[in-house]
Amino acid sequence: MSTSSRTQVSALLKSTDYGTEIFIQGWVRTRRGNKQVSFIALNDGSVIHNIQVVADMSKFTEEELKGVTTGSCIAVSGTLVKSPAAGQPVEIQASKIQVYGTADPETYPLQKKGHSLEFLREIAHLRPRTNTFGAVLRIRHAMAFAVHKYFNDNGFFYIHTPVITGSDAEGAGAMFRVTTLDAGSPPLNPDGTVNFEEDFFGKATNLTVSGQLEGELAAMALSKIYTFGPTFRAENSNTPRHLAEFWMIEPEVAFNDITDNMNLAEDFLKYLVNYALVHCADDLEFLNKMYDNDLLSRLKMVVESSFERLSYTKAVEILLASGQKFEFKVEWGIDLQAEHEKYLVEKHFLKPVILTDYPIGIKAFYMKQNEDGKTVRAMDVLFPGIGEVIGGSQREDDHDKLVARVRAMGIHEKDLWWYLETRKFGSAPHAGFGLGFERIILFVTGMSNIRDVIPFPRTPKNAEF
Ligand code: 4AD
Ligand code: MG
Repeated sequence: MSTSSRTQVSALLKSTDYGTEIFIQGWVRTRRGNKQVSFIALNDGSVIHNIQVVADMSKFTEEELKGVTTGSCIAVSGTLVKSPAAGQPVEIQASKIQVYGTADPETYPLQKKGHSLEFLREIAHLRPRTNTFGAVLRIRHAMAFAVHKYFNDNGFFYIHTPVITGSDAEGAGAMFRVTTLDAGSPPLNPDGTVNFEEDFFGKATNLTVSGQLEGELAAMALSKIYTFGPTFRAENSNTPRHLAEFWMIEPEVAFNDITDNMNLAEDFLKYLVNYALVHCADDLEFLNKMYDNDLLSRLKMVVESSFERLSYTKAVEILLASGQKFEFKVEWGIDLQAEHEKYLVEKHFLKPVILTDYPIGIKAFYMKQNEDGKTVRAMDVLFPGIGEVIGGSQREDDHDKLVARVRAMGIHEKDLWWYLETRKFGSAPHAGFGLGFERIILFVTGMSNIRDVIPFPRTPKNAEF
């Protein structure tokens, strides 16, 4: 049997070409029946639904179908017929079945349905075979495609920023060192520190925490750019919202101010959510039914609502007036905690919220300083059930103010000479943000743990697969 004439199950389920000969390949979800007839539910991952293969046992021997058990991989030739059974439009009357790979029912880990998500994380190599992960992975694909489509349709250019970086100035989180030096006996300087001049790049390097700084360089030439790549943070935050390796989308736009930046973020997020509603309806319906009955209505709410926009200072006033008991005390100047963001989004406004103008002391060096001397033009977008999905800002485009801030924060100016030069030569007002890809996938799928929306999660003490 060749694979050239294979039809995908997604196409077959929409077909009304009854009587045509077809050829399909996939993995057996279940097999049931009796001595006369065998029913095989086959899935090829193209769609959440299985196709039913009917094997008339007068045409097959038990021996031929012995290997057709849950988890096995088979090819089927047969005729497409209208299904007499409820809930499925068509089925296949099999004429030939070939077993590619068996799956021993005694040891196949997905023999039964209904495993916990925690258990499935331990078999990340097999979990794409479940309905849940099939749905999540198809939605993840659709969202990645939608990201590129949105920016391409709106005149942005996709920039590939480096994964290995020589600057650790972004300050977005602890970094993973990249080195070819012998960890056991690295070359040392006279003062006992590691001599990175002998390392591969002749200096200390790390995995990037963000493509923003390099993205800004490109925006100072191409005007509208975005990056979409893996980012790495070595924080030991073992939460349902954090990964050590995650994907981030970072648009950067010359001539945009903070209001333009908020408009872009809101339009982009609504586009992504709406794209999922339109293109991932089957998978969303499944997740809505199995995990979260409010999922679809929550997604529609986001598309239809206008995001609430207010300053950090106003948010602190609301929190102080709330009469709510918080674990972390609220006062102006604190970094808002998940519980505070949750209150604002889920109790007070009941829709997505964009907070702006944060205290200068809790935000990155590159954010545009406000006239008040106390706040910067930062913005965080907060979503129900997720918290922060986007962090961004208008950037400081004034060379002297930026240098002063770099010095005040004790950042090595010489590591950033190239970044600072963009403020010396043809500086321009500009703004951008970072969307955590897995955070938006969490929101769109309604899953509650970030480990369940990336194929192979990287978290503290976990890099098995
Ligand atoms: O707020 P962050 O740290 O912002 C930046 O990195 C900026 N350079 C972005 C920019 O302005 N271009 O991260 C941006 C987003 C967060 O809002 C969150 O959604 C996600 O990245 N994020 C994480 N997602 C998963 N695991 C982690 N450890 C994350 N840290 C941040
Ligand atoms: Mg942030």
